[in-house]
Amino acid sequence: MAPASSLLLFVTLLIFAAPSLAKKFTVGGSNHWAPNVNYTTWADQKQFHVGDWLDFKYQRDMYDVVQVSDEAAYKACNDSAAIVRYSRGTNFAFELNHTGRYYFICSRGYCWNGMKVSVLVHPAPAPSPAASHHASSSCARGEAGAWLAALSASLGAAALLSLPFRV
Ligand SMILES: *[C@@H]1O[C@H](CO)[C@@H](O)[C@H](O)[C@H]1NC(C)=O
Ligand SMILES: *[C@@H]1O[C@H](CO)[C@@H](O)[C@H](O)[C@H]1NC(C)=O
Ligand SMILES: *[C@@H]1O[C@H](CO)[C@@H](O)[C@H](O)[C@H]1NC(C)=O
Repeated sequence: MAPASSLLLFVTLLIFAAPSLAKKFTVGGSNHWAPNVNYTTWADQKQFHVGDWLDFKYQRDMYDVVQVSDEAAYKACNDSAAIVRYSRGTNFAFELNHTGRYYFICSRGYCWNGMKVSVLVHPAPAPSPAASHHASSSCARGEAGAWLAALSASLGAAALLSLPFRV
């Protein structure tokens, strides 16, 4: 393979690997955050990792998002010990910044109509070999700035390397 095309392939792989670092999930998919959606089914089809985001999209002034601490409160639709409570605007973006299980319900009675979701968050995936070579450790993960820096560093290195070996 000619140096130019292998460089192109390398850069293409880097660019396509980037979005896998942090994902934003719209809770409920196209159903958004609303009553009578089975969020267990929705969550079961996903893999959540540290650094990902949950985006609760809802009808203005109708619903809220309440993070509760444990399964008992989640099962009982009990929002009296809420960790986070949010109801402004039409969405609430929440960063999953640690491993373990998170529980969210809607208060105002809608929890009884299935408006509750629980997600299990796994450790952040290991960066791809190409990325880990340039990006330093875990603090760089998911940050666009660090990603671009790594990308331009590899581009620079590749440009330097390709010159002497081009035939
Ligand atoms: C949601 O779907 C799961 C199967 O994916 C089922 O076990 C569960 O009973 C359903 N929950 C409700 C509230 O219908
Ligand atoms: C709701 O949770 C609080 C503490 O978080 C508890 O004192 C209360 O008994 C619970 N209510 C019900 C109905 O389970
Ligand atoms: C975790 O995320 C929440 C909500 O996004 C944020 O308020 C909090 O500061 C974060 N905690 C850490 C340790 O980053």
